[in-house]
Amino acid sequence: MPDDSADPELFEAARAVQRHAHAPYSDFHVGAAIRTADGNVHVGCNVENAAYPQSVCAEAGAISAMVAAGERTIDVILTVCDADGLATSCGGCRQKIREFAHPGTIIHAAGPDGIRKTYTMEELLPDSFGPEQLLSE
Ligand code: THU
Repeated sequence: MPDDSADPELFEAARAVQRHAHAPYSDFHVGAAIRTADGNVHVGCNVENAAYPQSVCAEAGAISAMVAAGERTIDVILTVCDADGLATSCGGCRQKIREFAHPGTIIHAAGPDGIRKTYTMEELLPDSFGPEQLLSE
């Protein structure tokens, strides 16, 4: 049973920005909302391009907005799309989230009716490569 009670504000923020998605090629509209360690919310939507590989995912947009605002720590990220079933962040976005995640970071995958599944970063990208590896050189 979907449940958006975990963070209704984040869900509504993602739903609102999903309406701005520019997805004329896939017709797959995605919204993403991040809650940072400072408690602020940043949002993004997917922005497609006639040169298909140049498209930008919703998560990437939200991360860019977060970094542009001077913040770098994701406590929670929620994505929402209109897929019938569960739809989680793509592989590239998992790595992008990982860059700004901490061990307690939560990733919610939602549909129009609310959160469908919740993951830890480790569940979504196990044994991942991150900044620590480079810093330990
Ligand atoms: N998309 C996202 O925005 N986030 C993901 O994690 C998966 C895919 C977008 C990219 C493209 O605009 C559309 O969904 C279909 O792949």
